[in-house]
Amino acid sequence: MPHVVVLTGAGISAESGISTFRDNNGLWASHRLEDVATPEAWERDPEGVLAFYNERRREVRRAQPNAAHEALARLEQHNCRVSIVTQNIDDLHERAGSRDVLHLHGDIGKARSSVDPRLLYRLRGEETIEIGHMCDHNYQLRPHVVWFGEQVLLYDTACHIMADADWVLVIGTSLSVMPAAALLDEAPAHVTRMVIDPDAVALARGTDAIPMAGKASEIVPELVEHFIAHRVFEQPARGQ
Ligand code: OAD
Repeated sequence: MPHVVVLTGAGISAESGISTFRDNNGLWASHRLEDVATPEAWERDPEGVLAFYNERRREVRRAQPNAAHEALARLEQHNCRVSIVTQNIDDLHERAGSRDVLHLHGDIGKARSSVDPRLLYRLRGEETIEIGHMCDHNYQLRPHVVWFGEQVLLYDTACHIMADADWVLVIGTSLSVMPAAALLDEAPAHVTRMVIDPDAVALARGTDAIPMAGKASEIVPELVEHFIAHRVFEQPARGQ
């Protein structure tokens, strides 16, 4: 089956009410990332970092998947394999029904030990992480998110997924954070790449990607319906 790989960023969840980072009213306009999203910030001000991510978790719990998440989940029923590689720490792809989702930057619904990244704990209901909440080895818990300056542990896995792509859809990401942005270079040269974003034209400039400018909740369902109606995935994709 043709393999559709979808790289998503904050823009796909924007219409679900989750803040993006670099838009005019994005998170990095009201917070300095150096104060909340680095290991140094955690050293200096763990209460402030926990408060920032407790608020992110509240925002995610209030949100519902939108038409773009739902359309991607629907695509799985139509003669193709869909892998989602997301920079998002929300679970809206999973809640929409997507089954193969890789969270490059972590998952806000989990806590992890501050000394052992393999010690993960699912947070339930309204649970938050506070100072004094400890892992099984008695170290402070922190959010299961990747901070600037930390290694993206799932990057190699994401590269393998990209290298196997027949189609690549890039949705709602400014492609300004490495190494996530470099993932696009891992897809085989011949595959069709599409960029869906209000800024798609600028983002695709200088590449062979097809820009589709607009909101994810409008463009993605239309694109998926087009793929299904025209049986796009019943035609040979590799080397086309
Ligand atoms: P950004 O905030 O950098 O980019 C959001 C993108 O979404 C922009 O290109 C917007 O044009 C687009 N956008 C806004 N509304 C949209 C809509 N309704 N439909 C489609 N697109 C829309 O967010 P990311 O690229 O996800 O990392 O940021 C990447 C990483 O930077 C994040 O994972 C986070 C952040 O710092 C960490 O915290 C490690």
